[in-house]
Amino acid sequence: MEQLAATAFRTRYGPWALVAGASAGLGAEFATQLAAKGLNLVLIARRQQLLDELSARLTATYAIEVRTLQLDLARENIGSLVTEATSDIEIGLLVYNAAVSMVGPYFEIALQDHLNEIAVNCRTPLTLSYLLGQQMLKRQRGGIILMSSLSAFQGSALISNYAATKGYIRLLAEGLWEELRTRDIDVLTCCPSAVSTPGSLANTSRRSAPTPVSAMSPRAVAAETLAALGKQPVVIPGRTYRLANVLMQRLLPHKMTIRIMGRVMRNMYQQP
Ligand SMILES: NC(=O)c1ccc[n+]([C@@H]2O[C@H](COP(=O)([O-])OP(=O)(O)OC[C@H]3O[C@@H](n4cnc5c(N)ncnc54)[C@H](OP(=O)(O)O)[C@@H]3O)[C@@H](O)[C@H]2O)c1
Repeated sequence: MEQLAATAFRTRYGPWALVAGASAGLGAEFATQLAAKGLNLVLIARRQQLLDELSARLTATYAIEVRTLQLDLARENIGSLVTEATSDIEIGLLVYNAAVSMVGPYFEIALQDHLNEIAVNCRTPLTLSYLLGQQMLKRQRGGIILMSSLSAFQGSALISNYAATKGYIRLLAEGLWEELRTRDIDVLTCCPSAVSTPGSLANTSRRSAPTPVSAMSPRAVAAETLAALGKQPVVIPGRTYRLANVLMQRLLPHKMTIRIMGRVMRNMYQQP
């Protein structure tokens, strides 16, 4: 049964998947679960050694090919770099997982860092979904997964720009879902709450209070996301988080939701 599902997945989204931001955390987990479904992989990140280790692990375990690209996803010419490096293969699935998440008072973060966050979190996923999506359109099949966040549903103090970039991603994916669903291209955005990844643990070390919710494992988040592809435009992994989101978005006045988020963030990072 599992084998059958993997074959159907590979037929619809193969033969290659590209995971942007694949060296650690959720990206490495997406790569692992896609390898288990038999997809060949293009893995992008800045840390080549981590990509090499992941590639060696996956090719030793699964009968797949892996190509690694050491790239900074903030680069302006990322579109041509990626299309040149993949011109000989068919990418049927894009997983845009990478993100910059700057935490701190808005004016204490350098403007250049805010702009870099927009490049990695907005400009590059737009570029890659445009360029790879065009190829999927020609083949009339494919999938695009864009990683957003629960913070995409309201503004949040101390992560104002990050939350705004995640709002952009969520809305981009929702619009594309509607535009492309009749063209046999499945678009999905994933909006998790806390996930226990190296990136989020690095932020935890700067926190003075724990996250008020328990973090999900990357494995569970990636599995729920891949299972939702082709079924809906948005997935919020974890029942608790889905319920929390209903409470925050539908039951509380929006102003109160923004203030609660602000209080949570200030408490976590001990800011006035
Ligand atoms: N973890 C959470 O609690 C949480 C919650 C909600 C949403 N999310 C979202 O889930 C996604 C993954 O989160 P995560 O916690 O797994 O992140 P992470 O641990 O920080 O990993 C991010 C990945 O992106 C890559 N990356 C970052 N900047 C890059 C750049 N400029 N160029 C190339 N690669 C870059 C990193 O590789 P290199 O450093 O090697 O380049 C790494 O492979 C993000 O979109 C995040 O916003 C996470």
